[in-house]
Amino acid sequence: MTTKIPIIIDTDPGIDDAMAIFYALASPELDVVGLTTVFGNAHVDVCTDNAIRILDIAGRSHIPVAQGAARPLAMPYRGPADYVHGVNGLADVALPLPSRAPHALAAAHFIIEQVMAAPGEITLVPIGPLTNIALAMLLQPDLPQHLAGMVIMGGNAFVPGNASPAAEANILNDPEAADIVFGADCPIVMCGLDVTERTIMSSEQIAGIASIDNDRARLAAQILPYYRDFHLSHGGPDGIHVHDSTCISYLLAPQHYRAVHHPVRVDCGQHVGRGKTWPTTRHALAEGPWGGRRAITILTEVDAAAVVALELSRLTVA
Ligand code: RIB
Ligand code: CA
Repeated sequence: MTTKIPIIIDTDPGIDDAMAIFYALASPELDVVGLTTVFGNAHVDVCTDNAIRILDIAGRSHIPVAQGAARPLAMPYRGPADYVHGVNGLADVALPLPSRAPHALAAAHFIIEQVMAAPGEITLVPIGPLTNIALAMLLQPDLPQHLAGMVIMGGNAFVPGNASPAAEANILNDPEAADIVFGADCPIVMCGLDVTERTIMSSEQIAGIASIDNDRARLAAQILPYYRDFHLSHGGPDGIHVHDSTCISYLLAPQHYRAVHHPVRVDCGQHVGRGKTWPTTRHALAEGPWGGRRAITILTEVDAAAVVALELSRLTVA
């Protein structure tokens, strides 16, 4: 039996966040040490209640949830994406009350405590704005050296953005934080729009979830149609882009992905390019804005059918 991969998921649930968390919880290869919450798809207090509810529904109420940042490092919060995820962050479906309060520590401090107590073991899986991760790095400068690595849903290397022509939503929600995080001295995998917008769960596959007899699938069947309708009404696929679950699929089955490796900087300007993730497309530049940054793994190709099938197979796990 190979040892489990311990992960902390930093999340703004969020419909696709919920799917990614369920996916991780149903995967014996992974040990979900905790969830940390951040503003993004909804206000952070809503995201925290949803993270606790998601664990309750999955029967994993012992897993700690630590609440994090309510706004970005250096700009006002752009506001919730209720037109994508609903006002309550989960398609405005009726939800049970969360079973408990969040952990006593704020997210950044929880991350520091867990990572520094298990040097080299924990992988951070941020699937929302990167504010908490940046705060943890600023509070504990040697944090990256104690991480196994980070697998991040965010960014767009060689494709347009989704929150603006230039930028992907998680990065645009806090470009300054993202630029700090992509400069971390640890292994980083960027699961950006280059692969997540090519990973489609079809309306037919979504409809099939309704026949799965467990509480996780029942919530998924309730919330995914709202997310699908957003995609359909905005020129998207007849289905959903699988954004956050891509991080879990990569951890479970990296063989389904191809990548390039470049240092990345984030445009923190105040103009149309704000939030764009820029890899060096030639040799790593020894000096200038990319100087001193290690190359990160940028996913560029995906066997979409294989990873969607893997996620759906884990949803059927009792
Ligand atoms: O761009 C997609 C990302 O933004 C996903 O993490 C989704 O949950 C939203 O946070
Ligand atoms: Ca998210």
